[in-house]
Amino acid sequence: MSENTWAEVDDYLAAALLPPDPVLDEALAANAQGGLPAIDVAPTQGRFLHLLARIAGARRILEIGTLGGYSTIWLARALPPDGTVVTCEYFPAHAEVARANLDRAGVGERVEVRVGPALDTLPDLAGPFDLVFVDADKEHNLDYLEHAIRLGRPGTVIVVDNVIRGGRVARATDDPRVEGSRRMFAALENDNRVDATALQTVGVKGYDGFLLAVVR
Ligand code: SAH
Ligand code: DHB
Ligand code: MG
Repeated sequence: MSENTWAEVDDYLAAALLPPDPVLDEALAANAQGGLPAIDVAPTQGRFLHLLARIAGARRILEIGTLGGYSTIWLARALPPDGTVVTCEYFPAHAEVARANLDRAGVGERVEVRVGPALDTLPDLAGPFDLVFVDADKEHNLDYLEHAIRLGRPGTVIVVDNVIRGGRVARATDDPRVEGSRRMFAALENDNRVDATALQTVGVKGYDGFLLAVVR
């Protein structure tokens, strides 16, 4: 099985399961126009996050790593009318594209974009959040997991993206992004505050995967 097959199947699944969505298409076009890297979650994964938020009955969602707000739109759409997303983004230029995308998607009022290093923003936030999506600089994944647990409550759902990295996670490497996830997994070996698993994924974004945890 090749990357081509994974992408073909992802496109097939998206065509079968995901309704046409001009708002999300526009967001991706605006990202490209703004020079943002195309590292948004895949459409099927966006929908997965959306469904998870609905399953969890999430009213308050925290996202770390906004980019152009593609995943943020999926998450915000899962909220009840009075629900909110707080999303943290390092680069003002990314946040600006995201703000416009969120407003165009009609979820702007439900989303607060906090600009700056997430590690500066997170200590000021007050929980509890019902779902936390971690998708920023992978070097800090362990710090982000700690904040997610601190800002959670029993039952809070935590998803950490890109923890498999083409399978490189299983061995020590000199890639600090892979090592960031390896430190997180090592810490989870002795952590009784969460129940966690991780799933490997293939698709239009290649071979990667995510951590799924629930706060005890
Ligand atoms: N969740 C987005 C993709 C996020 S890409 C989606 O699926 O649509 C990762 C984002 O994290 C980038 O925009 C990057 O600028 C941001 N980022 C990197 N380091 C960060 C930090 N220290 N604090 C906050 N955001 C950071
Ligand atoms: C990268 C970051 C992501 O969040 C992602 O989903 C894919 C790639 C990256 O930094 O390369
Ligand atoms: Mg990601």
